[in-house]
Amino acid sequence: MAITAHGGQLINRFRSDDDLDSIKTEIIIDLFTLFDLECLAIGAFSPLKGFMTEQDYQSVIHRMRLHNGLLWPIPITLSISKDDVPNVLSSEKVKLVYDQTVFGVMEVSDVFEADLPKEAELVYGTTDLSHPGVKRLFKESPIYVGGNITMVKRPPRIIDEKYYVDPIDTRMELDRRNWRRIVGFQTRNPIHRAHEYIQKSALESMDGLFIHPLVGETKQDDLPPAIRMKSYEVLVNQFYSKNHTILQAYPANMRYAGPREAVFHAIVRQNYGCTHFIVGRDHAGVGDYYGTYDSQKIFEQLHPDDLEIKPLFFEHSFYCKKCQTVASIKTCPHEMEDRLVLSGTKVREMLRKGIFPPSEFSRQEVIEILINGLTEEGQSNG
Ligand code: ADX
Repeated sequence: MAITAHGGQLINRFRSDDDLDSIKTEIIIDLFTLFDLECLAIGAFSPLKGFMTEQDYQSVIHRMRLHNGLLWPIPITLSISKDDVPNVLSSEKVKLVYDQTVFGVMEVSDVFEADLPKEAELVYGTTDLSHPGVKRLFKESPIYVGGNITMVKRPPRIIDEKYYVDPIDTRMELDRRNWRRIVGFQTRNPIHRAHEYIQKSALESMDGLFIHPLVGETKQDDLPPAIRMKSYEVLVNQFYSKNHTILQAYPANMRYAGPREAVFHAIVRQNYGCTHFIVGRDHAGVGDYYGTYDSQKIFEQLHPDDLEIKPLFFEHSFYCKKCQTVASIKTCPHEMEDRLVLSGTKVREMLRKGIFPPSEFSRQEVIEILINGLTEEGQSNG
């Protein structure tokens, strides 16, 4: 029997756009909210059926639970400008508009004032505006509108359509393959040797590996999804077993909320049908805001019934010159100076300058694609 969706039911919130004309009020949304809208509609965020009401919002930021007690670590909210408040308050339904196109409809349940400093402190663990998630949060108006949504149109695609697979279809594919133990892998980066090591170590005791890179909004210096996706394709085609690997895209935004986002990522992958989820070093972290293993420790604070999907924890991994292989601090007995450790920032800097990081850090097939992609991007921007 397949794992159930979080909360028991996989949500689907699509509908035809027949009666859109009868809805007069419009809310202009940005791309970030549009991507959240799609995740709600396809059931990636099950059991949520819409943007959070005040009750759920307060409960989530303070208790990491929905008002009904179900584990939920991240607020999924829709911010509106002060000017929109009177219109929204007097409407039962509003259209959600991005780039002059209606993408969804929302039934207005409530309009409320968010406590942004509290939200930042409790969800991100900091109110520092240098944190990309906090920075985005404070750019928003602190007025939120809550209510169930439906989607009438899919967002514009930034990578090949074939990679956008809804949870219901992923679940069918997992079923068709008869996989019982499926490990999900979240990433917002190119897959380097340490990623490959933890993925394949996990796969040794599973039926299948579900590589699920996030392709919604990320911070500016992260590599664009279209370039990353090409690098995943090459890697998976040449170095992963087709019988035991699926590569699909997760059409969501990155929040960089560290521990809370790790739990969120696990919940979402349960909704896609995974039974296990990889949590490595500094999962969903950024800068020095979280401890290396905070995103693992948070799972220990949960109640055993909170989460069906099981986290699989991995230590910091790296290439060790003496071991002559990728290893982790658990398996490698050598000194720091024997280990090849490069920060994400350093690697992105090298790639943008066209410098190849060593092949012990990343497969050269991957690097070539990244450097070519970034050079082309640089030329078309400049
Ligand atoms: S994340 O923001 O999506 O978590 P990233 O794409 O770098 O960032 O990481 C994907 C997954 O691999 C996360 O579970 C992360 O903890 C893990 N990870 C990344 N690098 C390492 C490493 N060197 N050793 C162990 N785990 C790692």
